Amino acid sequence: SGPATVSPTGQPTGADQARMAQSGSYLTNAQGTRLYDTDHSLKAGPRGPVLLQDHHLREKVMHFDHERIPERVVHARGAGVHGVFRSYGTAANVTKAAFLAEDVETPVFVRFSTVLGSRGSSDTVRDTRGFATKFYTSEGVFDLVGNNIPVFFIQDAIKFPDVIHAGKPHPDREIPQAQSAHDTFWDFVTLHTEATHHTLWNMSDRGIPRSYRTMEGFGVHTFRLVNAAGETTLVKFHWKPKLGVHSLVWEEAQIINGVDPDFHRRDLYDAIEAGAYPEWEFGIQTFPDTPDQTFEGIDLLDPTNIVPEELAPVQPIGLLTLNRNPSNFFAETEQVAFHVGHLVPGIDITDDPLLAGRLFSYLDTQITRLGGPNFPQIPINRPHSPVNDMLRDGFHQTAVHRGVAPYRPNSLDGGCPFTPGKGLEGAYVETPVRVPEATKVREAPESFQDHFSQPRRFWLSMSPVEREHIIGAYTFELGKCYEQAIRERALEVLANIDPELCEGVAAGLGLPVPAPTVPLADVEPSPALSQVGHTWPTD
Ligand code: HEM
Repeated sequence: SGPATVSPTGQPTGADQARMAQSGSYLTNAQGTRLYDTDHSLKAGPRGPVLLQDHHLREKVMHFDHERIPERVVHARGAGVHGVFRSYGTAANVTKAAFLAEDVETPVFVRFSTVLGSRGSSDTVRDTRGFATKFYTSEGVFDLVGNNIPVFFIQDAIKFPDVIHAGKPHPDREIPQAQSAHDTFWDFVTLHTEATHHTLWNMSDRGIPRSYRTMEGFGVHTFRLVNAAGETTLVKFHWKPKLGVHSLVWEEAQIINGVDPDFHRRDLYDAIEAGAYPEWEFGIQTFPDTPDQTFEGIDLLDPTNIVPEELAPVQPIGLLTLNRNPSNFFAETEQVAFHVGHLVPGIDITDDPLLAGRLFSYLDTQITRLGGPNFPQIPINRPHSPVNDMLRDGFHQTAVHRGVAPYRPNSLDGGCPFTPGKGLEGAYVETPVRVPEATKVREAPESFQDHFSQPRRFWLSMSPVEREHIIGAYTFELGKCYEQAIRERALEVLANIDPELCEGVAAGLGLPVPAPTVPLADVEPSPALSQVGHTWPTD
C-alpha cells in the first residue's frame, strides 16, 4: 500500500487507514513483505530449539522492546482532545494575531494533566492540573501552556528542579506516588514561603476538580500583546468553562480513586463520544504596558500574584469547543509537544523570570522525550501553515528536503529572498522593549517579597463550606507528615494568612497556635475567587 501517509492532524488517509488499523486481508513485516505466519517462532522441529535465523521473530520482539518512550518529567499523566477555537474579534484592538481577528476558526489540540503523578497514576488526586492548548493558526503554532491554578509555587525558574524534587515521591521509598501528603513537599513549601499562595489553592476545592470539563484555565504569566499599530498591552489569559467550576469533595475523590482511577479521562472521552462537547470562553485581563509593569500595586512579573477580577474584569475574546477524541493515544496525547516559546505575531512575552526559564526547558526536555530534534515533524505537532526552514537531518528525520543550499545567503536555490531585520509581512518580530540600564545580580526584587497578602485575600474570599474543606485538607495532608517540626512550621505559615485557618488546622493536629510573624494584610475579598459548586450543573 505504499508508505504510510497521515493528514496534518495525524489521521491516516486512504489505503493507509486500513494498513494502520491492522485490518487488511494480509499482514506484512516492517519492510512490506507479506507474512506467512506471525504466531510461531521458526524452530528446528515443532518441539525443537528456536533458530537465530528467525528474522521475523527478531524484528517483532525488537520493535516491542522499544515501544516505550520516557514519560514527561512533570505532567506525565494526561488526556488529550481535538477541538476548534472561534474568535469573537474583541481582542483585535489589542493584538494583530490573525487567529484572534473577528470570527476566525482555528483547529486546536488540548491536553489536560496532573502534575506530579506518573503516567499510570490516579486522576482524582489533590494536585494542580495542566491545561495546555495548541492552536494551529494560519501564522504558525501558538501554544498556551497553562494550569487550572492562576499562580505558581516559585517566582524564578531556577527553583523548578527544587519544587519538583520536593513534590515527586520520596527518593528512598517512592511514596506517595501522586499526592502532596508528604514530608518533602511540606518541608519545601513551608521553608520557601513564596509557595504559600499556590499551596493554598491546592488545599482548596480547586485541588480536586469534578471534571476536566469544569476547570478554569490560566496562562499564569503576564503576556504582552501587540496590535497592528505597534501598541502594546499587558494581559493575563483565562479559560472559563461554560459548565461552571465544580469540584469533588475529598471523600468522593477517595472513593472514585479506588473505583475508577481513570475517572477524569473517561469523563472527557465519554462526554465527547456522546456529543456533549465541553466549551470554554477564552478571556483576557488587560493592563496598561507601563514601564514598571505593575497594576494597582501588583507586580505583573510575579507569577505568585493574581489580579482580582474585580480590579480587571476578564473580557471574553473567543470560544473553545472540544469535539473529537484522539484515535491513537500515543501518537497524539503522548507525542504532543507544547512550548511557551511557540508564539505568533501579536503575542509576546514579558520579563517574568519563571517564563524565561520555561522558554528554555520545554524544548530541552522534548529532545530527550521525543528522541532528537525533529519532533516538530510528528503529525500532532505539525503546523497547519507552510513550513520553510533550514533545519536539516538529525535523528528521526522524515522530511525529504529538496535543494542544495540550506543556508543563506546563497546563489543556488533562489538565494533565499529574505531580508533579515526588515520583517516580512506577517513575520514574528520581537517587541522592541526598552531594557533598563542594570547591574548583573542573582537576586529577587523587593516587590517579590510579599508572600502572604494574596493568600489572605484568597482565604477571605472563600465561603464557609470552602473554608471548612481547606482546613480539612491541610489537617489531613500535614497529619501524614512524619516530622513534627514540619507540621509546626506549616502552622507558622498559616498564622500569617489568617487566625481562623491556623486555629482550625492546629486543633485538628492537636498542636498549639503560633503567633503571626508578619502583620496580617489589610485586603478586600475577591468574590470571583469563590467557587462553591460541588454538584454537576444538571444535577
Ligand atoms: C509540562 C504548565 C512551569 C517545565 C507542562 C505542562 C503544563 C505545564 C500544562 C504539560 C504539557 C502537556 O500537556 O504536554 C506549567 C505552568 C507553569 C510551569 C503553568 C508555571 C506558570 C514550568 C517551569 C519549568 C517547566 C518553571 C522549568 C523550568 C516543564 C517540563 C514539562 C512541563 C519540562 C514537560 C514537557 C514535555 O515533556 O513535553 N508544564 N509549567 N514548567 N513543564 Fe511546565
